[in-house]
Amino acid sequence: MTTLASPLSSTFAASLVAAAVTEGLLARPKTLPAWLFYDETGSRLFDQITALPEYYLTRTERALFAAHASEIIALAAESQALQIVELGAGSCEKTLVLLRAAAERQDTVLFEPVDVSAAPLEAARERIEREIPGVLVSPRVQDYTRSLALDPPLTGERRLVLYIGSSIGNFDRAEAHALVSAIRAALAPGDAILLGVDLVKDETLLRAAYNDAAGVTEAFNRNLLHRLNRELGANFKPDFFAHRAIWNPAKSRIEMHLESVLRQIVTVPVHDSGLSSERRTDLQIEFARGETIHTENSYKYQPGEAESLLESVGFAPIRTWTDRRGWFAVSLARAA
Ligand code: AVJ
Repeated sequence: MTTLASPLSSTFAASLVAAAVTEGLLARPKTLPAWLFYDETGSRLFDQITALPEYYLTRTERALFAAHASEIIALAAESQALQIVELGAGSCEKTLVLLRAAAERQDTVLFEPVDVSAAPLEAARERIEREIPGVLVSPRVQDYTRSLALDPPLTGERRLVLYIGSSIGNFDRAEAHALVSAIRAALAPGDAILLGVDLVKDETLLRAAYNDAAGVTEAFNRNLLHRLNRELGANFKPDFFAHRAIWNPAKSRIEMHLESVLRQIVTVPVHDSGLSSERRTDLQIEFARGETIHTENSYKYQPGEAESLLESVGFAPIRTWTDRRGWFAVSLARAA
């Protein structure tokens, strides 16, 4: 595989996993961060989720892009050339239509997809460069919640940051505010952001999107435990944890949990490799029957809420596109 410019060395990445798992499994209630879903298997399962009949998010947002790509790109660029950054890009599957619109306006488009998972980025680079002549892809394996450092833009170009797919939904309101504020700080006046949020809707539709009949979301949730077995040598028995996805109306979020179906004790070896010594600790994690690990929050927004969030950190809203059913919103805003 091609080597990517990567600030995430594998030992550093492994220590991040160990630290997050230690902190999360010792916390009460137990919790694990959603970024842990996306190892190679998890990224593949997520791509399958996006094609499920119940998972309306991806196809609704894709239809918005298909209908409005030229307008989105034209409004973001005004009369300048654009370069595009995508945070949490994954396989970049919805981005193609936007890149095509940009490539129609200018000879070359620099595209910098950022993701914690290298494999889908590399596949995306090959596909995009093959399918859209004029787009140069420069992938970054980076955790954008830790560092948003961007190289200075090419002379005379403006940046458009894509933060789409309801990725922001994983963060509570305070975290989301901090994140868009950091995005704003990494940009120059005139640059733009395109933010995609999932909107509050009928509870039945929300619940179905995270409880699909084919069981792909369940496999995605449980893969977290398989990952800890693979990478840390833990001895989770994933079948002893049930997939739960519930709608929490008070917090306007879908919560995913893994619920222990019986009382059990799991061993999680964590290696803490310091500079001179390596220490290994075996965490013994006890689960009561019915106890859960909270694995993800997926916040749903009210109409207008994305615009207020953007405005509160120094972006001026330009336009918002919503599907006719009001299920999903994509907001474009300019760094003031
Ligand atoms: C990638 C965070 C947008 O919350 O809908 C899909 C992840 N989790 N099914 C979402 C997810 C379960 C997804 N996001």
